[in-house]
Amino acid sequence: MLMMRRVMLLTVVMWCMSSSSRSMATRVGFYDRSCPPAESIVKATVRAHTQADITIPAALLRLHFHDCFVRGCDGSVLIDGPNAEKVASANQGLRGFEVIDEAKAKIEAMCPGIVSCADILALAAQSAVELSNGPSWRVPLGRLDGTISSAFDVSNMPSPTDPIIVIKEKFDEKGLSEEDLVLLTGAHTIGQTDCGFFEYRLYNFQETGEADPSMSTQAQTELRNLCPVNGDGSNRVALDRGSPTTFDTSFFKNVNGGFAVLESDQSLMSDSSTALYVRRYGGKKNGGIIGGIIGGILGGGSPSFGPAFARSMVKMSNIDVKVDDNDDNGEIRRVCSRVN
Ligand code: HEM
Repeated sequence: MLMMRRVMLLTVVMWCMSSSSRSMATRVGFYDRSCPPAESIVKATVRAHTQADITIPAALLRLHFHDCFVRGCDGSVLIDGPNAEKVASANQGLRGFEVIDEAKAKIEAMCPGIVSCADILALAAQSAVELSNGPSWRVPLGRLDGTISSAFDVSNMPSPTDPIIVIKEKFDEKGLSEEDLVLLTGAHTIGQTDCGFFEYRLYNFQETGEADPSMSTQAQTELRNLCPVNGDGSNRVALDRGSPTTFDTSFFKNVNGGFAVLESDQSLMSDSSTALYVRRYGGKKNGGIIGGIIGGILGGGSPSFGPAFARSMVKMSNIDVKVDDNDDNGEIRRVCSRVN
């Protein structure tokens, strides 16, 4: 049994080290020699901020997604500037920048010029999931920071009003499968949204004078109470009804039951293949990484949400990473909000 566990653990580690959608060059333990405390500093910083504000993990997870989908996971979303990615409308409401800045300052004080902001953000997203009772995994590291950040590039971000076919295309362009799409959207098991992103579904959807029919009648009632018709759209509503700070499978159960808040989340049920994955992962317990794999192998069924989410996160975290020292577009930023 012990031997079997070791073999499976080794398989997971090897998979994490090699898996990527675009790059084979990041690796687990990249800073083990050059800056040994880097990973623990990020974890401790995220933990401290989470203790002060329970909504921080969701903010960091979203920040990493928005970084990776624009110019790859290169920390470009962190850069300040009048035309930087940050100012694009799709990036309004992004939070958690101060957590990354603090971790970076602490790491720079110990190992200057070694650890990229892009890696710190990837590590922070992992810690965010773990601190929300989600899965734990080692993040392959070694990203360089980008030097370009343009609001114009943000236009390809998936939007909550995109049809499912467009969302599938946008994920496919990043090397992410339909299963990855469903799993990664499962990040909405934590966090909140402004009413402004979905209240068009509540009162006069597509000029019908009714609510979006894909929303259950109970969800309509609940969400109308949270987002009154004469409100200013700024009320915050949990994306995962019932457990917005716990990383669990209830988000998928909610989507399956017509309780998704965002139209894009509900639209996962309107496509037969994505709906299959919503049902599959909604039916399983969260589970640890080993538990999920054992369940997958011994039980003959699919692995549970936690480990599968971790695998998709490793793929997303490797989108178009810059790893070559000769890459003119890459550097180790001294301060995450500006290029050197
Ligand atoms: C179809 C793709 C997606 C769309 C259209 C989408 C859209 C949105 C929107 C509109 C919000 C609310 C923002 C706000 O009001 O502050 C949100 C929040 C969030 N998103 Fe997504 N998202 C998508 C995929 C993802 C992915 C892949 C991840 C991470 C892996 C993610 C993580 C989050 C998290 C954690 C929040 C909560 C943020 C907070 O509480 O501050 N999303 N998303």
